Amino acid sequence: MSSLPAMPPLETGWWVVAMSKEVPSDRAIKIQRFGRPMVLWRADGQIAASWDGCPHRGASFEGAAVRNGQLICPFHSFAFEKGGACTAIPCDGPEAPRRGLQLRSLRVKEEVGLVWVWVAPGEATSDLPLFPAMYGTAHCDFSALFVAPWDLVVETMLDFAHLPTVHARSIGAGMNMAIQVEHRSTEGGLVLWSPKNTPEAEGEIEWKAPASWQLRLSPKVVNVAFFVPVDAENTYVIFRFIQSFVTTPVVADLMGWLANLFNRRVVSEDRAVIEGMARTLRLFPQQDRLVAADAPIAAFRRARKGWLNPAKSKVEEEAQPAQESHGS
Ligand code: FES
Ligand SMILES: [Fe+2]
Repeated sequence: MSSLPAMPPLETGWWVVAMSKEVPSDRAIKIQRFGRPMVLWRADGQIAASWDGCPHRGASFEGAAVRNGQLICPFHSFAFEKGGACTAIPCDGPEAPRRGLQLRSLRVKEEVGLVWVWVAPGEATSDLPLFPAMYGTAHCDFSALFVAPWDLVVETMLDFAHLPTVHARSIGAGMNMAIQVEHRSTEGGLVLWSPKNTPEAEGEIEWKAPASWQLRLSPKVVNVAFFVPVDAENTYVIFRFIQSFVTTPVVADLMGWLANLFNRRVVSEDRAVIEGMARTLRLFPQQDRLVAADAPIAAFRRARKGWLNPAKSKVEEEAQPAQESHGS
């Protein structure tokens, strides 16, 4: 019997769990996020989300039909509306009481072609962590799965020092090993920049909690990415190339496709390193000693502690720990 995947905690914030185009209009899809099965469907065009599992007998909604805006359970055809309330129990007749059956619904939004879900308990307390470049510009997406914990993948995206080594034949070609990187905290995130390349006001990399990341290549070209745990050991990432200088649709699509061909190569360069790190750190978590150039990673870890546990984080910040270590 196979064991259940490890379940990471349900962290606060709006998480991108899928691309809009992955959710059809006539049936539910099942995905795995935070170690738990989740279903997405459309009720009269509007996106809906719930942890998977029928409240009658626990059947999965994977591939379940959607009729008249209602999600229909594949086992006994009980119907559920967008908010999760049961609206029909056909086996007990049309007048049967609904018995308060309710899906484990999740708050969900659809914006800029992405499906955003709030998984943590309690009310949603922040806006969607979007970047202005995501509105009104041509884009092209692809997704990737990393066999590595979520925080390792995000930290690599905040790591300037690996560029001239891991990406020596792509984005890091010709870069100086003695990388200069500065960072500052923003409200709900971090901005990183190399003083040689980019003024502080613009930054090169921006991260917005919990999981939105932007790489600014020029004022009109950016890459963004969104990271979400599949479970404790796997991370799903959606990458998006955005440009605003070509507006002819066919040419813009071709440009996006070519850009992502290159971006996929960069991601595969990262994948080899990240997945190797994940294997090492699972066995030897202490193999994680940050140096000066890793200051943005230390800042990310402090920020993450802040959103996981604001009170504890404040005490630790005042104590100023001398050594950052992985596994917060
Ligand atoms: S298990 Fe879903 S209707 Fe019976
Ligand atoms: Fe990289």
